[in-house]
Amino acid sequence: MKVTKILETMDYGTAPESSAAALKWIEERGADFGLFINGDFVKPAGRESFETHNPANNELLAKLCQAQTADVDAAVSAARDAQAGWESMGGPARSKYLYAIARLVQKHSRLFAVLETLDNGKPIRESRDIDVPLVARHFYFHAGAAVLMADEMPDHQALGVAAQVIPWNFPLLMLAWKIAPALAMGNTVVLKPAEYTSLTALLFAEICQEAGLPNGVVNILTGNGSVGEQVVIHPDVDKVAFTGSTAVGRHIRQAIAGQGKAITLELGGKSPYIVFDDADIDSAVEGLVDAIWLNQGQVCCAGSRLFVQEGVAEVFHRKLRSRMDKLRIGDPMDKSIDIGAIVDPVQLQSIKRLVDEGLEEGGNRHVAAGDCPSEGSFYPPTFISEVDPACRLMQEEIFGPVLVGSTFRTPAEAVALANNTRYGLAASIWTENINLALDLAPKIVCGVAWINTTNQFDAAAGFGGCRESGFGREGGWEGLYAYVRPSYQSTGEIEVITPPQGSSEPVEGSIDRTPKLFIAGRQVRPDSGYSTPVYSSTGKQLGFVGQGNRKDIRNAVEAAHAARSWAKSTAHLRAQILYYIAENLSVRREEFAQRITAMTGAAIESAKAEVDLSIDRLFIYAAWADKYDGAAHGVPIRGVALAMHEPVGIIGMLCSDQAPLLGMVSVLAPAIAMGNTCVVVPSQAYPLAATDLYQVLETSDLPAGVVNIVTAAHSDVVETLAGHMEVDSLWYFGADGHSASIERESVTNLKRTWVNNGRSRDWQDTKQGAGKEFLRQATEVKNIWIPYGE
Ligand code: NAI
Repeated sequence: MKVTKILETMDYGTAPESSAAALKWIEERGADFGLFINGDFVKPAGRESFETHNPANNELLAKLCQAQTADVDAAVSAARDAQAGWESMGGPARSKYLYAIARLVQKHSRLFAVLETLDNGKPIRESRDIDVPLVARHFYFHAGAAVLMADEMPDHQALGVAAQVIPWNFPLLMLAWKIAPALAMGNTVVLKPAEYTSLTALLFAEICQEAGLPNGVVNILTGNGSVGEQVVIHPDVDKVAFTGSTAVGRHIRQAIAGQGKAITLELGGKSPYIVFDDADIDSAVEGLVDAIWLNQGQVCCAGSRLFVQEGVAEVFHRKLRSRMDKLRIGDPMDKSIDIGAIVDPVQLQSIKRLVDEGLEEGGNRHVAAGDCPSEGSFYPPTFISEVDPACRLMQEEIFGPVLVGSTFRTPAEAVALANNTRYGLAASIWTENINLALDLAPKIVCGVAWINTTNQFDAAAGFGGCRESGFGREGGWEGLYAYVRPSYQSTGEIEVITPPQGSSEPVEGSIDRTPKLFIAGRQVRPDSGYSTPVYSSTGKQLGFVGQGNRKDIRNAVEAAHAARSWAKSTAHLRAQILYYIAENLSVRREEFAQRITAMTGAAIESAKAEVDLSIDRLFIYAAWADKYDGAAHGVPIRGVALAMHEPVGIIGMLCSDQAPLLGMVSVLAPAIAMGNTCVVVPSQAYPLAATDLYQVLETSDLPAGVVNIVTAAHSDVVETLAGHMEVDSLWYFGADGHSASIERESVTNLKRTWVNNGRSRDWQDTKQGAGKEFLRQATEVKNIWIPYGE
């Protein structure tokens, strides 16, 4: 036989990894696991159990304990008791435990990898070479973060007890993403792994024991979604971190609304994979194999929507189909297998249903030629081309090895197709033209963009999304802020200020003035046609303000939307305009001070101080506009991950009564400095400071629509703002208790919220009233991965 013939006919042999050590580990524990509470494994009397199976062959692996309410209480209370001691030992001391955990993960890496593959069905190649090394890396990185916390994050402290609920697609990796930053920052945790895949979490609990971690710092409760729910709604929890489906993320957001808990949500995605005609086609095909077939496509950031430029579509699709046909599907324990098992028969059925129903709307299906085992939960790699952008296959997250695709002609069309989704997690862009790639990355709505690469993850770079992919980042410096609170934060209750009442007698010498609303750079009458009198502190009428309603809010949002090119203006220009606003305000200092005095009854000197501080705030954010830099993260690739600060988008703001001018300027200035457009609802008690301010804005070259001011009773407009699909974030500093309803209503588009939960804020204070906390709220971090070299 000739060598060429041998090469052509050569086939892979089997290369099975042994499962013996992992099965022995399970057997030694009686194949029946308890809960990990306060440093011990406990098996509550009369407990309910459920089974966990190997999805590749349906064999029973073990029985797991379904935690009950009493167990949730015990775990939260253990975490609470341990928290103060864990935090007060200091970052350097905590880091030693994190280093120890990292080392122990490496020491037991084979056991972790095999156990993960048995329980989850992912190829051993992936759990061994991707998941477990990244887990160790995560603990190393965060050990360092703990050491640096005191110096690099001054004025910050732990949140307290974190409730963490994770999914089944990267069981151990998601555990690391949650536990490492929480512990580094001084929090303690109660973690609930997914019911399909709890075994590596239980092995991790043993590692915590081996590392000598103080009791109660990590608690692990197994069980179904109802356990997850009990953990997150528990009143003694301070922080909720969830990764999983958008539906459950929404549910959790609503369930804990108003509880005053910090929350991060890492949810679903339908990420675009864009190939331009000048791309290195073979690399792009290979990248796509990683993008959509890593972990059988059960990846939130999977490149599941393929868009190829028309000129190369035919050749690209041909090469892709031919590559697909070579993928090997089968026993995940075989080291030369590409595609393992779907996590559970329930998920398998869900993939089948979504594909079958989706195909009714059209599409051209290609199924990989390789043999697909008939036993176990396997689904073949599938590519469906010619799918219309509005079809379910393009819009719904299938969460399986199914790629859908269409073509595009121009870069603008690629961006439009990429953004035509309710998600915003990741994107891959393939082109040899770096200018084009770097032009596209900021235009795609996502938290992570990969240029000529895909599915890159590292502890030094934040990961997370926007829109219905959730909010918050995991990894990098940006991820650490999800586990801390400013230590200068006030704990006092906000004071309710009743607007002064009075007679219809106008202030002596004043002329009747009825300020209008300020929308799209114009003064407009309120839709309702009603105006409300504003009285001085002594009961004299100072004037009227328009009574804004839902329609005015919608118009204001539309104007803010139309002004979105503000985000693309240079930071230098935004700084110039802020300086200009500050100058114009200082020219009218006396008049503003008198107005504040008239409304609030404050002494004229203190009113002047409020105006002066407002001017200072404008100067501060003018200064920050071009200095709030992103970062080049030190990720382990030949290249960089650029963490860019992008504006959040349209921010709604319900302002404080405490300092009518300063409270408003302090939120408006950072938002516009960072390139956001705003819908501002001023102080209800003292609205005239805002209507005076728009005259200043009008003369300061601020483009129309960047700031829109709607005077209104907060309760009349809060739901419209919170539920509005185009509003990207809502800030609340009012005193009449809308924090809970804002958090509840925000689930429409899963907007970010920043609410006061009834706590006061001292706007005069340089820390509480200004600084990076405001800049962080006004920005999203997008990580753009750019490999380089030939
Ligand atoms: P899921 O969101 O129901 O499960 C994720 C975790 O949340 C599990 O630990 C589960 O026990 C827990 N959970 C469920 N209900 C809960 C509740 N009410 N309160 C607190 N925790 C709760 O996801 P599921 O049903 O396993 O998968 C369904 C779909 O979700 C998938 O087909 C996929 O589309 C998506 N998904 C997305 C993931 C991602 O990383 N973005 C991960 C897992 C699933």
